[in-house]
Amino acid sequence: MPWLEWLDRQEDVEAAGHLPYRILEPVPELDYGEPDSPNMLIQGDNLDAIKALMPYYGGQVKCVFIDPPYNTKSAFANYDDNLEHAKWLSMMYPRLELLKQLLAEDGSIWMTIDDNEAHYLKVIADEVFHRGCFIADVAWKRRDGAPNDRKIGSTYDHLLVYAKSKVGNAKKTVAEEKFNLMQRTEKADAQYQLYVEPFGFDERGPFRKVDSTGNAKGGRFVESLIYPVKNPFTGEEVYPRKGRCWVYKREVMEQMVADRRFFWGKDGNAGTPMRKLFKSEAKQGMTAPTIWDDVGLNQHAAREIELIFGEKAVFETPKPEGLMKRILEIATNPGDIVLDSFLGSGTTAAVAHKMKRQWIGIEMGEQAKEHCALRLRKVVDGEQGGVSKDVGWPETGVTVR
Ligand SMILES: C[S@@+](CC[C@H](N)C(=O)[O-])C[C@H]1O[C@@H](n2cnc3c(N)ncnc32)[C@H](O)[C@@H]1O
Repeated sequence: MPWLEWLDRQEDVEAAGHLPYRILEPVPELDYGEPDSPNMLIQGDNLDAIKALMPYYGGQVKCVFIDPPYNTKSAFANYDDNLEHAKWLSMMYPRLELLKQLLAEDGSIWMTIDDNEAHYLKVIADEVFHRGCFIADVAWKRRDGAPNDRKIGSTYDHLLVYAKSKVGNAKKTVAEEKFNLMQRTEKADAQYQLYVEPFGFDERGPFRKVDSTGNAKGGRFVESLIYPVKNPFTGEEVYPRKGRCWVYKREVMEQMVADRRFFWGKDGNAGTPMRKLFKSEAKQGMTAPTIWDDVGLNQHAAREIELIFGEKAVFETPKPEGLMKRILEIATNPGDIVLDSFLGSGTTAAVAHKMKRQWIGIEMGEQAKEHCALRLRKVVDGEQGGVSKDVGWPETGVTVR
């Protein structure tokens, strides 16, 4: 398999294996909430911290989310984002290796990144996690308009998703098999409507109109599925359009017509009936698309932070809570362990806590105390910003075991 070369590559590939184990030291005066809560906020370099966690959490973490420095060549208030390109790769490679070891067999890792390093990260992640374990590159829309100082400017970040493992030639990875469907969006729900039919409205409620025919392109063209169907309103016999066939066998189709499961138009004289997919019978969730433009922008995240900390732009690159909610909804269930080793202002831990997941957050900067600890204390006390209302986080707060 081809791989990426950079200065020190060999040392970096071996680095994770040579790293000595460090011990985590508790800081009791920073404890808050339920005394035996397994949730953990760690201040320190994540390479040492992940290694220290290995004996206890190796193979147990269901979801890793990381939002590493993007290497944008900026000096942010809370951290420097300015590594030489090869040094950035040297920083990432051993961390990815160790994060993989923390993941459960059905676990997944989600990584946000922008165009500065996205494609290099993809190549080293392909090497560490294997190409077969790549699940998706989600485009998260982070701003409404392109930056003014460019002629063409990016409005999205990449969210690379990998599974820990895949069995043989299975179509899906183990993680994806276990993923939850995404919560239905308002836009998706709006496709279900009440339509007038010759007899009025269908008492089964709103439905979406779905094609009742298939074509040769999708490999669904079957000669025996071309037969006449009687329109129950006009008595006329109709056939599928040229080059197409019905998608049901004759007996099934006739039964469905009798059961009024086809929409023949407002006046009942449509040439081809559409199948009614009732909202009440549709899947509870939906397949997540790879463009996410409905989970909040950077500016929303900045506002969430401002509401929590009361100062404008106190943390420059937070992620919106809605983005984390979407990820945790798909990749985890209550009680699962979630880990973020570039915790920043603490978004992942805050959302995981509100969604009753167990969490571990690692941050090396002073923001571990100044932002994360403070933010999580507010969450424990029932903070009502971000996704709190959506997930039913009570104003009285609840700690998680
Ligand atoms: C982009 S920010 C994360 C923002 C976060 N997702 C949020 O919503 O607030 C990256 C963070 O990673 C931290 N960081 C960078 N290198 C680190 C390392 N080696 N160990 C631990 N934290 C690190 C930085 O201090 C910074 O706070």
